Amino acid sequence: MNNLPRICWTSSALIALAGMLWGLQMAISGDHSNLAAHAHLSLLGWVSLALYGTYYHLAGVTRLRLARLQVLFAIPGSIIMGIGIAIAHQTGAEELAKAGSLMVIISAALFAAITLTSPLRINNGG
Ligand code: HEM
Ligand code: HEM
Repeated sequence: MNNLPRICWTSSALIALAGMLWGLQMAISGDHSNLAAHAHLSLLGWVSLALYGTYYHLAGVTRLRLARLQVLFAIPGSIIMGIGIAIAHQTGAEELAKAGSLMVIISAALFAAITLTSPLRINNGG
């Protein structure tokens, strides 16, 4: 876990692909009941992970222990939440969705802390 931007972007790209295939499956089958699961997997796994990776790249964060922990919650959290929402919608069992949501919230809280401790230093030419 030494290259956090790369880990974030590669995971994000793979999850994007999985989310899009899931979307395509919904479109082809005409069964949109997994819309919420597809939406959260795509937005958390593709968009949020890419944003985390972009921040770490811009801030030069590659080894920070707190950031590694953040990524360790964010990647599985988005996948578990996506799958968990699908299971919750299909069977009513919400445990996995709750576990994934908790991981996503922990990762968001850690990320907020990191933005305070490792702020971006944008060079605006001034
Ligand atoms: C090939 C790519 C994709 C396909 C085929 C696809 C397909 C779909 C389908 C069929 C729905 C259900 C629409 C409905 O019943 O109203 C849906 C909903 C949704 N998709 Fe995708 N999707 C794709 C990519 C993405 C990506 C990349 C994102 C996010 C970055 C995304 C975010 C969403 C969201 C947020 C919803 C829920 C919208 C709502 O609340 O009405 N999708 N998608
Ligand atoms: C732990 C974090 C989150 C929880 C617990 C959560 C929970 C929920 C719930 C309960 C709904 C209503 C779903 C339904 O009516 O079936 C929803 C909808 C939605 N959420 Fe989230 N959400 C979270 C994070 C996010 C994030 C980070 C994004 C975007 C980046 C997002 C985007 C959406 C969108 C676009 C919808 C409407 C589409 C849909 O019905 O699924 N959510 N969310």
